[in-house]
Amino acid sequence: MRPIEVAERLGRWSSGRGPLYVLLAARLRRLIDDGELPPGVLLPPDRALAGALAVGRTTVVAAYDLLRSEGRITRRQGSGTHVAGWTSAGPVEDAPVDPMFLDSLESRDDGVLLAICAAPGDPPPQVAEAYAQIVPELARITGDIGYYPFGHPVLRQALADRYTGRGVPTCPDQVMVTNGGQQALSLLAHALVSPGDQVLVEAPTYPGALEAFREKGAVLRGLPVGLDGFEAAVRERRPALAYVIPTYQNPTGSVLPSLARERLARAADVPLIEDEVPADLGFPGTTRLTPMAAYSDAVISIGSLSKSIWGGLRIGWIRASAPLINRLARIRAVHDLGGNVPAQLAAAHLLPQLDRVGLAEELQARHDHLRGLLTQHLPTWAVPTVTGGQCLWVRLPYGDGASYAQTALRHGLAVLPGTGLDVTGQSDAHVRLHFRARPDELTEAVTRLTTAWHAYHPPADRVHPRPAIAI
Ligand SMILES: Cc1ncc(COP(=O)(O)O)c(C=O)c1O
Repeated sequence: MRPIEVAERLGRWSSGRGPLYVLLAARLRRLIDDGELPPGVLLPPDRALAGALAVGRTTVVAAYDLLRSEGRITRRQGSGTHVAGWTSAGPVEDAPVDPMFLDSLESRDDGVLLAICAAPGDPPPQVAEAYAQIVPELARITGDIGYYPFGHPVLRQALADRYTGRGVPTCPDQVMVTNGGQQALSLLAHALVSPGDQVLVEAPTYPGALEAFREKGAVLRGLPVGLDGFEAAVRERRPALAYVIPTYQNPTGSVLPSLARERLARAADVPLIEDEVPADLGFPGTTRLTPMAAYSDAVISIGSLSKSIWGGLRIGWIRASAPLINRLARIRAVHDLGGNVPAQLAAAHLLPQLDRVGLAEELQARHDHLRGLLTQHLPTWAVPTVTGGQCLWVRLPYGDGASYAQTALRHGLAVLPGTGLDVTGQSDAHVRLHFRARPDELTEAVTRLTTAWHAYHPPADRVHPRPAIAI
C-alpha cells in the first residue's frame, strides 16, 4: 500500500496524548484489528511512511517495533513489513479513502480545530421553529405508512416550485428527495456508471463525489475547473457522465459565468451533473445564477440544505427527467426505503427561508476574518479571495499540502490537503481551509497554522519556493 494511502487511512492519528510512536502504533493497531489493513498487506518502508507523515524515521521504526512485539506485523529484511496472518481474500484493494469521510468518523472532543468537513457549526433557530410548526401536521397524519422512496410529496412539490421560480420549469415527478447531497451523488453513480466507464470531473473537486464515482469503478478524468475543454473531452473519451460544481465551486470557490454555463449545458450530450450544494452560499450583493438545467435536459441538478441550513437534517435532492427519477427511486428503495418524513416536512417550511437574513453577511465576515489573518501572519501563502462558498483554496509557497497537514495536525488543526481532491495530481501544493467556524476559532486556527508553518520541514525535493501567482 502506498505511503500516502496509509497516511490518509490514519486520519487524526497524532492528535492524542503521548509519544508520537505510541499514537502511530495505536492507529495502525486499530486499522489492523478492524480489518482495514488485512493480513498480508505490505506496509510502506519506514522512510517512506515517515516522509508521508512528516515525522522522523525513528518514530515509524519504534511504532513498527511495538506492533511486531505484539505479533500484529512481521518485518523481514528484503521482503518488507507485512500485516501478520494470512487471508484467502488476497491483497486488499488499494481504494483511496476520502479524508473527509474519515474525518467525520473521528471523535469531536479531541480539541482539533478547523475540522475538515465544512458545514454550519449548529442548526439555526429556524430549524427548531420549523419542527414546532410540523408537530400539529404530524398529529393530523392518518392512513399513511410513511415510506416515500421518491421523497415526501409536500417537499417534492416545494422543490419543484423552487426550480420553476428559478427559471427551470419542473414538476414534482422530476424531483427526488435524498438523504443529503451525498446520497444524491451515490444514487446517480449507481444508476449511470458501470465499471471502467469514464467520468469527467473538475480538478480539483469535491472528494465525496470522486469517492462515489470510484465506488462504481469509474475511471476519472480531470479537466480544469469549469470543465474547460469539455466538448473535446466528450468527443475523445465518450464519458458515461460529467460532474461540475458551477457556483462557489468546492474547493476553489469559483463561479462559472452565465454564458459559460449555458454553453457547457448545451454542449452536453452525455449526462452532466451540476452540483448546487454550495449554490446558496453567496456573499452579500451576489446574484443567484440560473441552474444549468434550464438550458438542457442532459443536465441533472442536485442540491441540499446541509450548507445553507444544517447538515444534521440530511435533506438533499435530485432534479432530473421523470424516467431517471423512477430508476433512482428503485435503486434507493433497496438501500433505505425512503427518508425521514418529519425532517422532510420541516424542510418544506425551511425552503422559503433559504435567503434567511444573516447567512450571506456571516459568511462574508468569516471569510474576511480568516483571509485577513492569513495574509497578515502567513504573507507568503497564496490565498485567493472568493465571493461565496465556505472554503479558501490555499497554495503553499513550498513543501506540499499532505506533509504540512500532518504537521498542522500535531499542532491541533485538521486541514484538507489538496491531493485527495485532484485526480490529475496537480494540487499537491494546496490545502483547503474553511471559514464556517466561529471567529474566535478561526483566530486560534490561524495561530496554530502559523506555529505549524514555522515548525514545518518540507520533504527534501520540495524545499524550493514556487514562482508567485497573481491573485
Ligand atoms: C459540493 C458538495 N456536494 C455534495 C456534498 C454533500 O452534501 P451533504 O452534506 O448534503 O450530503 C458536499 C458536502 O460537503 C459538497 O460540498
